[in-house]
Amino acid sequence: MSNDHPIGIDFGGTGIKAAVVDLGAGDLASNREKIQTPQPATPDAVAEVFAELVGRFPASTSQVGVTVPGVVRHGIVHSAANIDPAWINTDADAVFTAALGREVHVVNDADAAGLAEVEYGAAKGQRGLVIVTTLGTGIGSALIHNGVLVPNSELGHLEIEGFNAESRAANSVREKEQLSWEDWAERLTTYYRAVERLFSPELFVVGGGVSKSSDAFLPLLDIETPIVAAQLRNAAGIIGAALVSSRASS
Ligand code: BGC
Repeated sequence: MSNDHPIGIDFGGTGIKAAVVDLGAGDLASNREKIQTPQPATPDAVAEVFAELVGRFPASTSQVGVTVPGVVRHGIVHSAANIDPAWINTDADAVFTAALGREVHVVNDADAAGLAEVEYGAAKGQRGLVIVTTLGTGIGSALIHNGVLVPNSELGHLEIEGFNAESRAANSVREKEQLSWEDWAERLTTYYRAVERLFSPELFVVGGGVSKSSDAFLPLLDIETPIVAAQLRNAAGIIGAALVSSRASS
């Protein structure tokens, strides 16, 4: 059961969520277990939480995939825009593999969500370039061309009108500045227009917790490219992480 039922762990700013994933069905195969993100969320503190979460699932589920909200190359974290700076240059694959006593593969959070949406969700079967964005504390992005991910695109940090894009248009900014849907949609329009000018995608998929309110803001966007809400909602990171772990070890 372990090969097509890995554990996915989604490491977010407020919570760390984990579940066993049925890769055949593209769905969770267990309860979703959640623990609050420790503060400060240093690699060691987070690894402890992972160990506790993984301990809640049967030992037969040997593979584990983990998302991290930063640039990840060959298991090493290279950026920390919204997480503890101690992550920079941490070999997360090695730290988590040691903490959990089994093979762990780490992937950028938006890349995980993107892979899951293309494999099972809103962009299933879509050819050409799909750009999945996650609107949360920051803005995450996944570039997927004909099903193949170009990792670490980091389009949340594009400089647009002199600003780091996520500092104007992330969902956390909408909340902090108490923007109306209309005012936020204007900022999102500026953002997605800049991205479509650069990449001419076939489709945008919008994920992150706020995508459950997509009816309130997606129709207000004035852009050329079709844009739809993510389908896997808050399971996308978990499912994508599990997918990455299974691909990495096959
Ligand atoms: C980080 C990305 C991450 C995104 C969403 C950005 O600030 O740089 O790596 O995917 O936030 O969490």
